[in-house]
Order: sequence, then structure tokens, then C-alpha cells
Amino acid sequence: MAGHPDHYSREQMVAHWMIVLFVLMQYMMGDDVARWFGGLLEGEATPSGLGPIYVHGFMGALIFIVMAFRLYERLTRGVPPAPTTEPRPIQFASRAVHWAFYVVLLALPVFGALAVFLQSGFVGWLHMLTTKLLLLLIVAHIGGAVWHLFRKSDKTTARMWRQDPPGRI
Ligand code: HEM
Ligand code: HEM
Repeated sequence: MAGHPDHYSREQMVAHWMIVLFVLMQYMMGDDVARWFGGLLEGEATPSGLGPIYVHGFMGALIFIVMAFRLYERLTRGVPPAPTTEPRPIQFASRAVHWAFYVVLLALPVFGALAVFLQSGFVGWLHMLTTKLLLLLIVAHIGGAVWHLFRKSDKTTARMWRQDPPGRI
């Protein structure tokens, strides 16, 4: 298992913000894609929304590739330690959310692709349910990031865009 470097690498930071952008776009397309999928399941010959499903599938594949790269980086290079300014249960919760992101963001594209190829309403439902779980993780994660951002002399949040932010962790 990798150790704890004192900062995120440029690749880790760029990959983090790429994922934020891609995930945002996936949610913006969600309604159109769900409508197209509903039409497909009802046996419509040409369900409307073919454009969005292509883009959604392509973005989903990109998310899978970037997350696989991040997982590799995390296991080989490692990530900085959790902020010691927080009590142990909070440190644990924040790391648990990070690991859950990997699981959910690698599983989502697989569920999505299987739903389309198998034309399975059940797998589509699993995909949709997982997107709700992802939303919960995002709310918790951003809550933590904003909390650290506004605490005096706390560099936890800034270390996702600077390698040498002032302050302490
Ligand atoms: C991490 C990647 C992905 C994210 C974040 C994501 C997100 C979403 C969201 C937010 C919805 C709308 C759910 C709702 O109606 O409440 C959705 C629906 C859907 N997505 Fe994805 N998606 C991803 C990858 C994929 C991939 C790769 C495919 C395959 C082509 C796909 C296929 C679908 C389908 C078929 C639906 C409709 C499901 C249904 O209505 O039951 N998704 N996705
Ligand atoms: C789709 C939304 C997001 C996802 C999926 C996500 C995912 C992650 C993951 C997995 C990590 C762990 C580091 C790693 O393994 O590379 C992380 C760290 C971090 N994220 Fe996000 N993030 C999201 C949005 C945000 C936003 C909007 C902010 C800022 C407001 C943010 C700030 C941070 C910070 C500061 C860290 C470092 C925390 C630490 O090292 O303890 N993230 N993020």
C-alpha cells in the first residue's frame, strides 16, 4: 500500500476537477437519457434523445477511465494524510466517502452500459438508485470541503488546487 505524500500531484488534481465537471454534465443530461431509455423499454422504434445517450455513454466511459487512473495513482503514489485537526471519526468518515466515490463512479458506467445493452429496466433502476447515492456522497464531501475552506489557517481544501497552500492540516 502507498504512503502519504505531503501534497496531491498535478495529475491527481487535474483528474479530480475533470471528474467534477464530467459528473455535473452527466446529471444535466439525466432527464433526457431517462426519457430515451423509457422509450426504448416501451419498444419505440426510434426513441427520442439518441444524441444525449451517445454523449452520456461517452462521458460515462471517460469517467470510468479517469477513475481507474485515479485508483492506480491512489494505490501506488498515495494521497496526503487526513486532516489531524479533525477528530478520528470525522477523519474516518471523510476517507470512507473518498473510497465510496471510487466504488460508485466505477460501478455507475457499468450499470448504465448493462442497462442499455440488456434493455433491462431493473439494471436501469439500479443505475438511477446509484446516482442518488452519489448525490449524497457529493453533498457530504462538498460540506466538508466548504467547512475547511472557511476555517482560519486550514489548508485542507486548498490542497486540491495548490501544492504548497499556507496554513495547517
Ligand atoms: C459515472 C457515470 C454516470 C453518471 C454519473 C450517470 C448519471 C445518470 C443520471 C443522473 C441519470 C438520471 C437518473 C434519474 O432519472 O434520476 C442517468 C440515467 C441513465 N443513464 Fe447514466 N450515468 C453515468 C453513466 C452511464 C453510462 C456509461 C450509460 C450507458 C450508456 C448510462 C446510461 C443511462 C441510462 C440508460 C439511464 C436511464 C435510466 C432509467 O431511467 O432507468 N449512464 N444517468
Ligand atoms: C463530483 C464531485 C466530486 C467528486 C466525485 C470528488 C471526489 C474526491 C475524491 C475521491 C477525493 C479523494 C482524493 C483522491 O482519491 O484523489 C477528493 C478529495 C478532495 N476533494 Fe473532491 N470530489 C468532488 C467535488 C469536490 C468539490 C466541489 C470540492 C471543493 C469545493 C472538492 C474538494 C476536495 C478536496 C479539498 C479534497 C482533498 C481532501 C483531503 O485530502 O482530505 N471536491 N474528492
